[in-house]
Amino acid sequence: MSYRPLGSEVTDPLIRSKIAALSLNGSLLTNDAVAKFQKTIKYPEYLGAFESEEEGKYNNFKNVDGAKNDKGHLGDKSFKHLFPEGTKYSTEDLSPNFGTEITGIQLSELDEAGKNDLALYLETRGLAIFRDQDFRDKGPAFAKQFGEHFGPLHIHPVSFSADKHPELLVTFRPPGDETRYEKGFAGKTGAFAWHSDISFEEYPASFSFFVALEAPKSGGDTVFIDLREAYRRLSPTLQKFFEGLTVIHTNYYQNQLASLNGNTARVKGDYFTEHPLVRTHPVTGEKSLYFSRAFIHSIKGVKAEESSFILNFLEQHVTSNPEIQVRAQHKGTDARTVIAWDNRLAVHTAIADFLQHATGPRHHFRITVLGEKPYLEEENKEEEVAVNGHSNGHSNGHSNGHSNGQAQNGALNGN
Ligand SMILES: [Fe+2]
Repeated sequence: MSYRPLGSEVTDPLIRSKIAALSLNGSLLTNDAVAKFQKTIKYPEYLGAFESEEEGKYNNFKNVDGAKNDKGHLGDKSFKHLFPEGTKYSTEDLSPNFGTEITGIQLSELDEAGKNDLALYLETRGLAIFRDQDFRDKGPAFAKQFGEHFGPLHIHPVSFSADKHPELLVTFRPPGDETRYEKGFAGKTGAFAWHSDISFEEYPASFSFFVALEAPKSGGDTVFIDLREAYRRLSPTLQKFFEGLTVIHTNYYQNQLASLNGNTARVKGDYFTEHPLVRTHPVTGEKSLYFSRAFIHSIKGVKAEESSFILNFLEQHVTSNPEIQVRAQHKGTDARTVIAWDNRLAVHTAIADFLQHATGPRHHFRITVLGEKPYLEEENKEEEVAVNGHSNGHSNGHSNGHSNGQAQNGALNGN
């Protein structure tokens, strides 16, 4: 079966006209709809309309020294600054290997050392769910400042953001009743889209902090896959083969969908960015299978049929094994949940399992930190250093861009 990039149906004229109609009839989030929802939602400052003067106004930063500057290098392996002595907290692992739920720690009160420990914690556990956070009431400027500790922040080219704070990406699914179900699944059986945030960027995301503003009491979870374990499960033969492959990631289809919906492109550019299929983590040294399904276009340098064959295998291998998945529940507005993760070792998707029920909105904002340019560290490092004067595989990519994965309620969606 031939592999199709997610969202590529947008090039079909019949699909285009359907999407345009959905946008016109208010089924997709538009500037007009934003103005309407701002009057009823609990956190209107976290839902801004696109301003026409924002068109092409921003660029994203490179993060050339991202691997060296990763805050996880400064973290303490005992995490004593994240969990200071005398603090009453509890942790519950989602699985023995991946993901932990934490209560009793207030993210907004972490000092520098606590944030460094948090970086290392996410790099070790993959993701963490924090309950009862006051983060959302501290305001957008605070959130931005918090995120900047970890590195340069990403500005999403075409996703909605907090008002006047383009660094805070917003995902918003409007309130509604069971009539959303028919519309939501009229042309597809599922709305999930596995991705690592902004993998089409030359410097894709390290950490994401996903802050619940309003959430259904049940459902609308975010599900994660451990890409380290996805790599480890392969035979040495296939691991070696995959280590030689380069993958092309793109935001082209996401941009097309956004354009059909009338969204302003804050950052211009369709990127076709090359990343190694297997990448090395700059702090832990662990390898992961960097398979960001929603943004992957093709395998570089092989024939079309071969690219399809490899990508179809990867999709099956990575996404169909429940042993390497965990589910992060948002648990409604009152749970005051913040979920944080390391995009270099995980993919995730939002779960649209509540559309047949009447619910309030699902409304979050996300701080997205730029990481290093993905690389695969060569095994025979010393030899490599002797020959080349450096290690660290792969030169990579082109493009300048950035951005991440979601069209608010469209086909390429979210956290
Ligand atoms: Fe995401």
